[in-house]
Amino acid sequence: MGKKTVGVFVGSLRKESYSMAIAKIVSSLAPADFEMRLVPLEDLQLYNQDLDENPPAAWTEFRREVNALDGFLFVTPEYNRSFPAVLKNALDVGSRPYGESVWNGKAGGVISVSPGALGAFGANHQLRQSLVFLNILTLQQPEAYIGNVASLLDEHGQLTNAKTKEFLQQYVDAFVKWVNLISSAQ
Ligand SMILES: Cc1cc2nc3c(=O)[nH]c(=O)nc-3n(C[C@H](O)[C@H](O)[C@H](O)COP(=O)(O)O)c2cc1C
Repeated sequence: MGKKTVGVFVGSLRKESYSMAIAKIVSSLAPADFEMRLVPLEDLQLYNQDLDENPPAAWTEFRREVNALDGFLFVTPEYNRSFPAVLKNALDVGSRPYGESVWNGKAGGVISVSPGALGAFGANHQLRQSLVFLNILTLQQPEAYIGNVASLLDEHGQLTNAKTKEFLQQYVDAFVKWVNLISSAQ
């Protein structure tokens, strides 16, 4: 099997983001033949259907970049029991023009992250709802709800908890198998 490239989409623009810290840790656990590429979302203008005729350069570049990926890993915090607008905007931009979605039929994964105890369950499942419609074939198990995240990381964003590292490695192993399976069927 050849080298695979997975886009990592993080739903927080915050400099000290816990979600970004977890995304970096997860990316570092992937095997050498998997490139985990962070896809920047901060310069993506809000989706506006009026602009479909003459799309902003950032949308075109984003669609081109996503189209070339073998799979997608979404690492999301929870905002008001849902996933943040920055991720929704990315999904919307990639889904248009109508009939030309760059998400269709590829493998996906969701990891939700929160300093709270519930592990951003609401964000995780609301995100999954959009992924169903976009036909992103999303890994079912293991589910990944990273709760109480502030207590799992040190001041350098490194994991202090061996059990969490073990769990994230299990997640990455399952996700890698999933991306290989789905991409080999295309
Ligand atoms: C607008 C807003 C809404 C929030 N709503 C929730 C929520 O519904 N559930 C939750 O667990 N945390 C909520 N939080 C707290 C976030 O989990 C916390 O700010 C977290 O650090 C954000 O993720 P990040 O560290 O990756 O930026 C909210 C934070 C903000 C700014």
